[in-house]
Amino acid sequence: MSSEKVYKNFLAGEWVESAGGDAFENINPAETNDRIGNFPRSNSEDVAAAVAAAKSAYPGWRRTPPPKRAEILFRAGQLLAGRKDALARDMTREMGKPLEEARGDVQEAIDMTFYMAGEGRRLFGQTTTSELSSKFCMSVRSPVGVCGLITPWNFPMAIPAWKMMPALICGNTVVIKPAEDTPLSAFNLVRVLEEAGLPPGVVNCVSGFGPEAGAPLAQHPDVPVISFTGSAEVGREVAHAGAERFKHVCLEMGGKNVIMVMEDANLDLAIDGAIWGGFGTTGQRCTASSRIVIHKDIYGEFAQRFVERARKLKVGNGIYPETQVGPLINEAQLMTVERYIEIGTREGARLLCGGRRLTGGEYDRGWFFSPTIFSDCTPTMRISKEEIFGPVVSLIPCSGLDEAIEIGNSVVYGLSSSIYTRNINNAFKAMQEMETGIFYVNAPTIGAETHLPFGGTKQTGNGHREAATAALDFYSEWKSIYIDYSDKLQRAQIDS
Ligand code: UN1
Repeated sequence: MSSEKVYKNFLAGEWVESAGGDAFENINPAETNDRIGNFPRSNSEDVAAAVAAAKSAYPGWRRTPPPKRAEILFRAGQLLAGRKDALARDMTREMGKPLEEARGDVQEAIDMTFYMAGEGRRLFGQTTTSELSSKFCMSVRSPVGVCGLITPWNFPMAIPAWKMMPALICGNTVVIKPAEDTPLSAFNLVRVLEEAGLPPGVVNCVSGFGPEAGAPLAQHPDVPVISFTGSAEVGREVAHAGAERFKHVCLEMGGKNVIMVMEDANLDLAIDGAIWGGFGTTGQRCTASSRIVIHKDIYGEFAQRFVERARKLKVGNGIYPETQVGPLINEAQLMTVERYIEIGTREGARLLCGGRRLTGGEYDRGWFFSPTIFSDCTPTMRISKEEIFGPVVSLIPCSGLDEAIEIGNSVVYGLSSSIYTRNINNAFKAMQEMETGIFYVNAPTIGAETHLPFGGTKQTGNGHREAATAALDFYSEWKSIYIDYSDKLQRAQIDS
């Protein structure tokens, strides 16, 4: 089982050890005896070398016509599609999510790669009129420079692809620092880009820990663009580092996403959605449905049926086809979830099911936690407001749509929300009133697609969006161009 492999950083087109020769282990969270390999524990010296490589590759890549950049991305997309199953197996092994979900994660990377490759022949700007005669106006996108990408462990390939592909198609070069829990999937993605023919230095990858490798990347003077997905706490540090040098900073942070179940909802559908949104990926999605606000007329029935279904969920190693809920990512995350169980109990919420670490047999060798439902929660309890990032769902009763919306909007985050109702007026009203960046009708809060903007309002982010053409706005700058062919001085706002 233990096939200790040694992985390297990718710098200027070469696979190299970390400057200090240090390494860390990548461990399977479902089977902690299964040691996946050693990855370079990079420091500021490695980051500086990676940034230097990206900086020297930038002029050549910037001048490469976007359709040519796109050809490489298309090839990468094809390679990813051809290897989808093997890549998903690597991902399940390092991250724990069930194989079917890992395939979805790889698919999301494939979708983003093809989508952004398509942008190689678009990257549309505007041509427009001028207030002066014999004058032509247009705007084009320009790349920005070296992009520092700091990615989380919960979508180990999709999120690196969300950030890399738009950065690359716009003509930027990249240094990526993947999460220390899941470096293999990012390495697999980088390897595919190398094979697809990406010139040396255009993408560089340094593995390691936030304070040692992420911070120097965020602070580096030659990195004008930083994109970060992770906790609000680290996001704040990244924003501070960016503010020092007026960097472009894109932050994707927490969520406390709500499903609102109205009295006229199709309950079977709402329960299917709550199970998938609450416990899919073991609740470790920014978009996880961690709060369910339920109309009081159906609260009892919903709670009872939801608990019945949650109890039946098969928790285990994601590599087994029957597994529905994998392990938590690591021991620290398990302890966080345990702490929130205590907090919720102390706050007076009623534990309907779960609430404990699973033990015995294979469970003893991984970080498994039982799907947990708290009932009788009030909107102000910490378990109703704070992101837990685990299989814990809070049920909150409400008396109608207005109250549901008020509770839904009462948190500091604004990523995703949803409503289950058959009343079209209420669905549209909720769509208008919810303060989230993503909104669903009759579907849970997870499952965003790559061709729509992804991101949240309030303390979820800082106003940027990933995916879709919205990502291009972050990874490029507009250049407005005026061509005067009148052969005379024409003064805007004066001669017109
Ligand atoms: C995340 O949890 O950080 O919408 C990303 C979804 C997925 C992406 C989640 N497509 O749930």
